[in-house]
Amino acid sequence: MIMEYAMSARIAAVSDLHRGHHSYPESLADEFLRAEDAGADLLLLPGDLTQAGRREQAYSVAADLSRSKLPKVAVLGNHDTNGRSPREIADLTAILTDAGVTILDNGATTLAVRGVTIGIAGGKGFPGGWGPTADSEHAEAAVKIATSLSSLNTDVKIAVFHYAPCVGITVGDRAAEWKLGNRLLGVAADLGGASHVFCGHSHWGTARAVTPGGVTVDNVAWALRRAITIVQVPARAAAFLAA
Ligand SMILES: [Fe+2]
Ligand SMILES: [Fe+2]
Repeated sequence: MIMEYAMSARIAAVSDLHRGHHSYPESLADEFLRAEDAGADLLLLPGDLTQAGRREQAYSVAADLSRSKLPKVAVLGNHDTNGRSPREIADLTAILTDAGVTILDNGATTLAVRGVTIGIAGGKGFPGGWGPTADSEHAEAAVKIATSLSSLNTDVKIAVFHYAPCVGITVGDRAAEWKLGNRLLGVAADLGGASHVFCGHSHWGTARAVTPGGVTVDNVAWALRRAITIVQVPARAAAFLAA
């Protein structure tokens, strides 16, 4: 059941569609339409939209998404990009963009729905695990995400990653912890003042956990949820004070 708040955003989210893999649905168009009927404001897609980043897989997902009138925001996942050339990734991005999807690569986007402004920042993220060290490439990406989030002056601020931003999301997963996410992503969400965080990638992990700073994280991987998840995210306290 969705709790009601005076100022809030209703986020419908699903990741890890793995389109093209035989054990995943060939279409989720009806589920996207049901999310719209359920009053969602936005469709959020935290990566692994395709099984292998192939054009036909991207066209299949794009056809589903084109049927939904909701604003759509995504990040790519490792299955969308690994082993693909920059040109192939650009093709995949263009196919999804033509279907009305805004794809974030450590940047941010904003929209207004029902008088509530929603800011979303994020990117694919990265693995590496939960220890205190990080390489400079990942540290730079984390700083970009935190900066993008901080720049948002919206009522609701959403962080979105493909990889997990906290170890709690990985509990129960059969994969090695270090492959599933990185602590820096949670730190970036905390430093950027996220109201709520969405991720995927951990197919057999935990549906909900919190960042080191206590922000709720929803893992919306299809294999875990078997449904589109709708979360009502209240506006930040700062938005209420300014109203
Ligand atoms: Fe996945
Ligand atoms: Fe993944």
